[in-house]
Amino acid sequence: MKNLYKCLCILLGFLLIEKMARGQEENAARWGIPTQSSTYGGSIPELALDGLSSWTHTNTETNPWWRVDLLKVYRVNRVTITNRPTYNTRINGAEIRIGNFLDIYSNTICGVISSLGAGATATFSCHGMVGRYVVVDIPGNLKILSIVEAGVYGYLAGNRAVGGATLQSSTNASLIAEKAIDGNRGLQQLYTGCSSTLNETDPWWRLDLHDVYRVSNVIVTNRKDCCAELINGAEIRIGNSLDNNGNNNPICAVIPAIPAGESYNYSCDGLDGRYVNIHIPGDGKILLLCEVEVYGYLAENLAVPGAAFQSSTSMNGFAEKAIDRGLQQLYTGCSSTLNETDPWWKLDLRYIYRINKVVITNRKDCCAEQINGAEIHVETLWRTTNKRQ
Ligand SMILES: *[C@@H]1O[C@H](CO)[C@@H](O)[C@H](O)[C@H]1NC(C)=O
Ligand SMILES: *[C@@H]1O[C@H](CO)[C@@H](O)[C@H](O)[C@H]1NC(C)=O
Ligand SMILES: *[C@@H]1O[C@H](CO)[C@@H](O)[C@H](O)[C@H]1NC(C)=O
Repeated sequence: MKNLYKCLCILLGFLLIEKMARGQEENAARWGIPTQSSTYGGSIPELALDGLSSWTHTNTETNPWWRVDLLKVYRVNRVTITNRPTYNTRINGAEIRIGNFLDIYSNTICGVISSLGAGATATFSCHGMVGRYVVVDIPGNLKILSIVEAGVYGYLAGNRAVGGATLQSSTNASLIAEKAIDGNRGLQQLYTGCSSTLNETDPWWRLDLHDVYRVSNVIVTNRKDCCAELINGAEIRIGNSLDNNGNNNPICAVIPAIPAGESYNYSCDGLDGRYVNIHIPGDGKILLLCEVEVYGYLAENLAVPGAAFQSSTSMNGFAEKAIDRGLQQLYTGCSSTLNETDPWWKLDLRYIYRINKVVITNRKDCCAEQINGAEIHVETLWRTTNKRQ
């Protein structure tokens, strides 16, 4: 009997052959702006961010503090503080605070340093505390605060791009695709902090968000060193298809131009997609991106945690394969009934939902027409008339 493959791959993702590169966690303090309550003997607040063994130093005062403005809101995973090798008690009792307030005591305490060895570095886990300011302060009278080095590690809050997997059509030396999502817009001036393709026809860059997001906006940061106009005409595309490497997905925006070193914000009006592509159509183009940020919400696919059934099963075409986000379009990643009268596939969502949308992905190998005429029913109770065998 000839099998009739009815392939329903609902919102299937691809098994990615590409490297699942994690976003690099960066020391956000490095591009922040430090200040402190007072400065003694030229030991300015910047000395805590210079990567050297010099130290900051306040006057002897009440409640001395040091603060770094990260310029953006970060989700902070950890803070490191390095103590000086001499007079090493000038850190004792310091509180580390994170938050969005200029009033330092309104920010939340991540950790307290009771004491720290000479020249030692302490690491404090802040478990994703959110804030633009990181403050080190010592409460009390007649205190001095002195810090050799401070590090702040985390991600830009709310940016869905960080942690995604990136790929580009070609790579110029060390300007790998991941550099466009390193969470680091602050180093945009450095050409080395950007991704870049070679000079080619239709260069593209792609981000896999690992899940389907309703994308509200995408922010693209351009290079500052030169050649800002190379970005002109780049298209931002969002969707779930990898046809033409994802460059056929719907367009969110076409970038007319971005001035050197600037970050421009493009509204995508809630386009749904797992993939965000940036693509410059044409010959002799170079696609260089210093940062791509993606903001939006998870578009919940209720199918994934559901239970799938079908009227019959052809070989390994189990009903679950239509909700597994597996090998899209290879017929081995799809569900299939036998060749029969009135075949059906059903999904039990386990709860009653108000359904906004159902997405069906068809097989790619052949026989696309087999899906023709399929009806999608949404029902609260499964009618017995559908239970044909
Ligand atoms: C590749 O990068 C180098 C600098 O690292 C630059 O001089 C060269 O022009 C780039 N080539 C292309 C095709 O962008
Ligand atoms: C980008 O624009 C949207 C409106 O389209 C706005 O809500 C959002 O705050 C902007 N983001 C940034 C980082 O400027
Ligand atoms: C790419 O190479 C072609 C041929 O050498 C050249 O005409 C074009 O200007 C180059 N494009 C860029 C952006 O450098």
